[in-house]
Amino acid sequence: MEPRMGLPGDVDAVTRVIINTMPLDPQWDYRFPYRKQHPEDHYKYTRMLFEYFLDPEHDDWVVMVVEDSLEPGGPAEVVAFGVWDVSYINKRRYGPGYKPQDPVTEVEERGGKHRRDANHEHFDEFRRGQMKAYDKFFRPLGPEQMHLQILATLPQFQRRGHGSALCRWAMDLVRRDSLRHMSVMASPMGRELYTFLGFAWVGSFWIQVPGEEEKLVLQAMMYRPPTASRTSLEDVDGNCAVS
Ligand SMILES: CC(C)(COP(=O)(O)OP(=O)(O)OC[C@H]1O[C@@H](n2cnc3c(N)ncnc32)[C@H](O)[C@@H]1OP(=O)(O)O)[C@@H](O)C(=O)NCCC(=O)NCCS
Repeated sequence: MEPRMGLPGDVDAVTRVIINTMPLDPQWDYRFPYRKQHPEDHYKYTRMLFEYFLDPEHDDWVVMVVEDSLEPGGPAEVVAFGVWDVSYINKRRYGPGYKPQDPVTEVEERGGKHRRDANHEHFDEFRRGQMKAYDKFFRPLGPEQMHLQILATLPQFQRRGHGSALCRWAMDLVRRDSLRHMSVMASPMGRELYTFLGFAWVGSFWIQVPGEEEKLVLQAMMYRPPTASRTSLEDVDGNCAVS
C-alpha cells in the first residue's frame, strides 16, 4: 500500500509499531534496558514523543505511515512508519536564524528526565553522539537536506516492501524539493535497506559512555539524487568516535 501522511489519530497505532519493532535495533536496548520492568513508563514517554511528531503544529517533522493486513481482505492497520526532519522548509521560510523544534527536550520537560525504563547515561550519550555525528557528517552540507529520524516495520510485516515504499516517498520529495541529500544514522537492519535503495555509506561512528566497555556502532549514510553534485564529504573515510 502507498504511504500516507500520519495523523494525530494514528498515535496509538504508531506507538504500538515502535514498541514492538525497535527492540530489533540495538540502540533500543542501549537506551531502554529497563523497559520490561517499567512498561508503563516505556509506553507513556514513547507515546508522548509520537504525539509530538504527529502534531501538525510541529511542522519541522513529518510522519508517513503504511497500512497492511495479515490476511487478504482483512482489516488494514498501521504496520510501518517513518519520521523525517523536514525543517529545511521552515529554514527556507524564516532564514538562518530559525530555531528548529526539539522533541527530545519537550518530552524531557514533561517528565521524561525521570522515566524509569531508560539508562539515562546511555540515553544522554546517544543524543550527544548523534548530534556530534550529525555535525561531522551532515551539517556541513547545509540546510538543503532532510534527515530520516526513525523507520520501523512491524516484524511480521517486514520484507514486504513497506520500508522501501516509505523511503521512496522521501527520495521523491528530495528530488521534487531540489534538496541535496537525505541523511540517516543507520542501524544494522537499516543499513541493509538503505544499501538496497542505493544510499551511500559515509562513515561509522560509535557511542560510548567514558569508562564503559559497552558501545553502540551506527552507520552514517545518505541518499543523493542523481542531479546533486558530489561533495568531498562523500569521499572521506568517516570512521570516528563521537563520544
Ligand atoms: C529496517 C526496516 C525498517 C526495513 O523494513 P522492511 O519493510 O522490512 O523493508 P523492505 O521490505 O522494504 O526491504 C527492502 C529490501 O531491503 C533489504 N533488507 C531489508 N531488511 C533486511 C534485512 N533484515 N536483512 C537483509 N536485507 C534486508 C532487502 O534487500 C529487501 O529486499 P528483499 O526483501 O526483496 O530481499 C525493518 O527491518 C525494521 O523495522 N527494523 C528494526 C528497526 C530498525 O532497525 N530501523 C531502522 C533504523 S535506521
